[in-house]
Amino acid sequence: MTAQIISGTEIAKQIREELKEEIAELKEKHNLTPGLATVLVGEDPASQVYVGQKEKTSQALDIYSERHDLPADTSEEELLALVDKLNKDPKIHGILVQLPLPKHIDTTKALYAIDPKKDVDGFHPVNVGKLMIGEPDYLPCTPHGIQQLLIRSGTKIEGAEVVVVGRSNIVGKPIANILLQKKDGANATVTICHTRTKDMAFHTRRADILIVAAGKPKAITADMVKEGAVVIDVGVNRIGKTAEGKAILCGDVDFEAVKEKAKAITPVPGGVGPMTITMLMLNTVRAAKLAAGIA
Ligand code: GUN
Repeated sequence: MTAQIISGTEIAKQIREELKEEIAELKEKHNLTPGLATVLVGEDPASQVYVGQKEKTSQALDIYSERHDLPADTSEEELLALVDKLNKDPKIHGILVQLPLPKHIDTTKALYAIDPKKDVDGFHPVNVGKLMIGEPDYLPCTPHGIQQLLIRSGTKIEGAEVVVVGRSNIVGKPIANILLQKKDGANATVTICHTRTKDMAFHTRRADILIVAAGKPKAITADMVKEGAVVIDVGVNRIGKTAEGKAILCGDVDFEAVKEKAKAITPVPGGVGPMTITMLMLNTVRAAKLAAGIA
């Protein structure tokens, strides 16, 4: 049996269409336009691409978007001053400071400076804590995208054995938290594996839903996957370049082999990736509604 391919490209498009309708309604009924400010410090080429995509997607959805490109030698004080200004700007409902920041800037300080109400990444400790106790204002974008891929592909999450490989603050820990919630689209039994796990395959083979954010190409091989499992591959590894200089991507899962065993699987690219920006747009709309008292 070859697995169903869960298309993040298609599901993200569906969600963006729903958002577009919601944004039009906010404009018509409440004269409210959600606003997103992106802040990029320096000239990291991958970050420039990501920020460009965020700006383009905002514009396509009629979200007001403001892009702040700062030179690589911007001081921490200058960045904090800009964040403070954006915190106070009523046109701006969401602020995204693109990571990684240059080494001379303290990332924690920069992220903590963002007003939690405008923290559409969901990285501020107030929002991390709210998620932990089951009362989130914003779910972090990539994990929220994963939950939507599971729900919209018809995967049964309630009662499922979920195994997460990776314990990062932006994927592993929050997706475990989200799927653990006592809520629809959650209620799973969750195990988190990491680099110090004694017998990784013992755990991954038990998984009804296997979520892999290991940061290692083909870390998950077919022998590590249960027949009929649903596999979500969060990995984005650049393993070479095409003749035209375009990056060749592969995930953390040996896709070709695992797709013969899994019930459903996400591809790389076209799986989790397209969901992240879409969930950022959803958080920006939510931020605008929260600010206007209509959420
Ligand atoms: N850099 C890579 N992914 C992300 C993300 O989701 N948010 C931010 N702010 N920076 C990133």
